[in-house]
Amino acid sequence: MRTQVCIIGGGPAGLLLSQLLHRAGIDTVVLERRSRAYVLSRIRAGVLEWGTVKLLESAGLGQRMHAEGYVHDGTYLAAQNRGFRVDFKALTGTPVMVYGQTEVTHDLYDARDAMDGVVIDEAEGVTPHDVDTDAPYVTYTKDGTEHRIDCDFVAGCDGYHGVSRQTIPASVLRTFERVYPFGWLGVLSETPPVSHELIYANHARGFALCSMRNANLSRYYVQAPVDDPIEKWSDDAFWDELRRRIPEDAADRLVTGPSIEKSIAPLRSFVAEPMRWGRLFLVGDAAHIVPPTGAKGLNLAMSDVHYLFEALKTHYHDGDAAGIEGYSETALARVWKAIRFSWWMTTTMHRFPDQTDFDQRIQETEIDYLEGSETAQRSMAENYVGLPY
Ligand code: FAD
Ligand code: DHB
Repeated sequence: MRTQVCIIGGGPAGLLLSQLLHRAGIDTVVLERRSRAYVLSRIRAGVLEWGTVKLLESAGLGQRMHAEGYVHDGTYLAAQNRGFRVDFKALTGTPVMVYGQTEVTHDLYDARDAMDGVVIDEAEGVTPHDVDTDAPYVTYTKDGTEHRIDCDFVAGCDGYHGVSRQTIPASVLRTFERVYPFGWLGVLSETPPVSHELIYANHARGFALCSMRNANLSRYYVQAPVDDPIEKWSDDAFWDELRRRIPEDAADRLVTGPSIEKSIAPLRSFVAEPMRWGRLFLVGDAAHIVPPTGAKGLNLAMSDVHYLFEALKTHYHDGDAAGIEGYSETALARVWKAIRFSWWMTTTMHRFPDQTDFDQRIQETEIDYLEGSETAQRSMAENYVGLPY
């Protein structure tokens, strides 16, 4: 088989890239290791930057998002039972959209199906070859038969554990990493959200976050030891812990119920440079990971897709390779700013095991400064709603 762009990974980055390229008349094949049902069952991010909203609209995906998503003009930050609101809309002119990654992925699969896009699921042993030459190809096995796809370019959209990044020689690849000494215990429950906007809470017992998916689906997180066995956290233990960490008025209003999903995720900052090697591009989590505080992971994958789509379109339509050559540098400039912001928000809002009294005072002062300074709030808001592409 031959295609123009072979895309490894059918998560949000791979599917959106495929959708945008197809609409621009550029042929793609998406190879996904898992089944579609598995990909669609993953519960992940919940907040979309407005740039992500616009990009999805430009791919023809706005309808259900605008009908079912929630536009949020601001968010609440709380520390030791005191809270204040940061008004994104007033400070930056831009809101955010609460619409789950699960729904985005669902819309993307529907859109790919409607255009007869080629998405091959349960593709095993996907391997890129000769990406540093002018004739790259990708091999994989499906139902016991080996296949080969010749292509012009390979887009590695295969997440943190994918094969694409590993294709780049160690002598070329440079990685940067910080692993945080805690995780997020997340619960999804069919209960009305405790607040009409998100609450990010700093507390002596650890961070907590109140989020949502819809009027009867809440998403809550508490900071927890990453190696805690999940059985240690009964639903009651989770709700008790969340209640202790959020402001009293919210705790009093909190409606609890059985969890329909419960898991602990590690927190890590990670960047791989460069994001292009020959005809291989790294996109989204394949190139970088952020801790979830600040909701940047999915949004960063989407801005990478934007840069790569524009670069490939200019190459195919105008014969101009400048975008392709500059992809890594352009994408990394925005990636590092999101890495910085999510590191700052994680550091400001969590309790670290080795936190000294000095660290504690600095953290309290950071939040106090944010509460009292419109300039500080505008900077936070500018980053939260997403820096321009
Ligand atoms: P992925 O969504 O990881 O998609 C990669 C795809 O490639 C997957 O479908 C995978 O099956 C496939 N793949 C992998 N290897 C291969 C291979 N060898 N061959 C073929 N296919 C392959 N972000 C937030 O902003 N907020 C959150 O609350 C949040 N929670 C998260 C919780 C978890 C457990 C995880 C893992 C991530 C979370 N994130 C969150 C981050 C966010 O979900 C990611 O940034 C986003 O999914 C990135 O999209 P992607 O398409 O780059 O990668
Ligand atoms: C959600 C996750 C985040 O990491 C975040 O900062 C906000 C919301 C969520 O899952 O809803």
